[in-house]
This record gives sequence, C-alpha cells and structure tokens, in this order.
Amino acid sequence: MTNTTTLNFKTASGHQVLAAAGKKMLRPGGGIATEKLFQWAGFKAGETVLELASSFGYSAIALAQRYGVRVVGVEKNPDSVACARANIAAAGLVGQVEVIEGDIFRLDAISEKFDYVLAEAILTMQSPPGKAKILRSIHDRLKPGGKFLSHELLARDREEQIHRDLAQVIRINSTPLSETNWIAAFSTAGLEVKQHQTGAMALLNLRQILRDEGLLNTARILWNVLTKPAIRSRVLEMRRVFSQYQQELGYIAVCAIA
Ligand SMILES: C[S@@+](CC[C@H](N)C(=O)[O-])C[C@H]1O[C@@H](n2cnc3c(N)ncnc32)[C@H](O)[C@@H]1O
Repeated sequence: MTNTTTLNFKTASGHQVLAAAGKKMLRPGGGIATEKLFQWAGFKAGETVLELASSFGYSAIALAQRYGVRVVGVEKNPDSVACARANIAAAGLVGQVEVIEGDIFRLDAISEKFDYVLAEAILTMQSPPGKAKILRSIHDRLKPGGKFLSHELLARDREEQIHRDLAQVIRINSTPLSETNWIAAFSTAGLEVKQHQTGAMALLNLRQILRDEGLLNTARILWNVLTKPAIRSRVLEMRRVFSQYQQELGYIAVCAIA
C-alpha cells in the first residue's frame, strides 16, 4: 500500500505512482510471464521460496495457496510491508508466508538456503554493479540445484538511450538489458539459464491491465488516472516513453539453476 497522502507525485518512482492508482501487478510481462515462471518451477508442497521485493505480498500469497510452499519475502518499503502482513493475515497464511522488512542488497542477513528465489521487476532498477551484487547473493541463498525465477524489463536494442529516457520518467535508475546481456549477467553469477522467454512489454496496455487486474480494479485504476491530475500526468509521461520504444521494450522471463 503506497501512502498516497504523503507521496510526492512529482518525484515518486513509477511503481509507486501505479500502485497509488490501484495497480497491483507491477511487472513488465504481467501475469502471463509470472505463470510461465511458475510452470518452469514445478513447485512441490513443503518447498521454500525467497521472494525479493515482495511488495504487497500478492505473489507470495498466491504461491502458498496454489502450491503449498513456504515463502519468505524481502521488501524495503515499510508501508508495503505493513500491507503485505495484513494481506497474509487475512489469507490465514501467517506461519507459511512471512515478509521481512529489509534490503535485497543485504541478503547475507538471511542464513537460510531456499529451493527457489523469485525476483520480478527489481533487477532492472539496479546499476550493472548492483545487478551483479544481487545476482551473486541470490546464488548464495539457493540450495545447490535450486532455481532462480526472474522476470524483468528487456531492451532489445538502444539500451543506453532507453536507460536515459526511462530513468527520467520512472524516476529510478531503470536499466533494462538485452536478452544476451541479461543471460550473461546471470551466468557470470553462476546462475545457468535453462529456460527463457521474451514478449511484449504491456504494463500500461488496457488489454493486459484487464487480464491482470480484473474488471473492477481496472475501472478503479482508470477512475484514479482520469480524476487525479498528479497521477494522470505521470502515467501519461511513462506511457509516452513506453510507446516511443514499443519496438525495443519487452519482458524477459528466465529460469536459471544455481
Ligand atoms: C516494481 S515493484 C515490483 C513489485 C513486485 N515484485 C511485483 O512484481 O509486482 C518494485 C518493488 O521493489 C521494492 N524495492 C525497491 N528496492 C528495494 C530494495 N533495495 N530492497 C527490497 N525491496 C526493494 C519496492 O519497494 C517495490 O515494492
């Protein structure tokens, strides 16, 4: 839950603005890419998942409910952590799903090793050295043979230009990579890519929003965008750059083995 009363919409990051508009799924390939990751994973009841940047806990809760896995989430934003904990309690999953308030740059603070690490829409936000550091610590948090499930923003071409223009409108260091560069970043950290898929980036595409958020929540998002000028101008700013780079931008979903 983004604290909309204190959020400065001029400087807030893109995902905070979209969350304030009511968007629950904040990842470039939406539910389709996430489902592909779940398919590749082949989760079994009782296995363990570490989720990076777990936000409001929606993925963690879905994993526990659908597959009977135990999930530990790490999330930096205290408002999101509070919202995730309330959602977990409401779902009756306390004890099976836990969200720790913490920084994914400090995964060494967690001693447990996991069967899976899930990270969606978080590595893109990091600089190349930041990506390398997080990927190494993901490798360290996986059991031997454990799976890393990743879903990030793809720049098929013009990486530099896209980085510059996206960082400006999203107000974070958004640095999407090409397919080759993402795969190279994973293998440098000892994560061997077994499966991957790319597709269109449709975060602000109405058809994808309807599929991911459902009719009611889509209506709520549209209402907020139409009636709140501060949200609307940021959404339009992001949409302009997404459209400008429509040919180059996409998502990449990856399953890699430690
Ligand atoms: C784009 S959202 C993605 C959320 C979620 N994974 C999803 O796919 O819907 C990014 C999330 O990462 C969190 N975040 C950003 N930097 C972080 C860090 N260093 N450590 C932990 N969480 C972080 C933000 O607070 C936000 O909830």
